[in-house]
Amino acid sequence: MASMVPRPQPASTTEMTEYVLPQHANALGNVFGGQIMAWVDLCAAITAQRHSGRIAVTAFVDDLKFQMPVKVGEVVRLRAEVAAVFRTSMEIHVVAEGEDSRSGRRWPCVDARLTFVAIDDEGRPTPVPALVLDTEEVRRSQAEGEARRAGRIERAKGSLAPQDRDTLTG
Ligand SMILES: CC(C)(COP(=O)(O)OP(=O)(O)OC[C@H]1O[C@@H](n2cnc3c(N)ncnc32)[C@H](O)[C@@H]1OP(=O)(O)O)[C@@H](O)C(=O)NCCC(=O)NCCS
Repeated sequence: MASMVPRPQPASTTEMTEYVLPQHANALGNVFGGQIMAWVDLCAAITAQRHSGRIAVTAFVDDLKFQMPVKVGEVVRLRAEVAAVFRTSMEIHVVAEGEDSRSGRRWPCVDARLTFVAIDDEGRPTPVPALVLDTEEVRRSQAEGEARRAGRIERAKGSLAPQDRDTLTG
């Protein structure tokens, strides 16, 4: 049984560093967008599982913008943190940067928000611990995440047939 004691944001923050090899790149020598998305998803999944103490699955990915490319021989640095926690779902914010490890220069690569749902031993969504709202920054992050979640649920309802709209929680 996973603990439901509220958890502080830093307890689950995850950092990953990936070196870009030729097999990660397209014909221009830049990392494939799909490869970056896989690293973003992995970094976010580790964060969601650290927070919830459960297996967590990707339920939704907000608009994902590739800001600047990263080339073979350069480095992708990723950082994921829990932005907001709901009942069984969590919004995870991932920031990825490119880095030239020789000069130390860094540049923005991706800024993404993903919703993960914690899953119990029977494969059903299960409640997750709250976020400790111990700083103004975390309180703002939780409030902004709740507003974004309301928008996601509305958009998801819009894509359903009328008889199915009440099945979405929120
Ligand atoms: C994600 C999944 C578990 C949700 O299952 P479900 O039966 O719809 O569950 P519920 O309706 O009880 O919703 C569970 C949570 O998901 C949230 N959710 C559902 N659809 C959502 C959407 N489009 N956007 C954001 N959150 C959503 C609900 O709001 C709820 O969160 P809450 O408990 O914090 O309020 C299910 O759709 C699934 O397994 N999807 C496939 C996941 C997957 O294969 N991912 C890729 C590999 S990891």
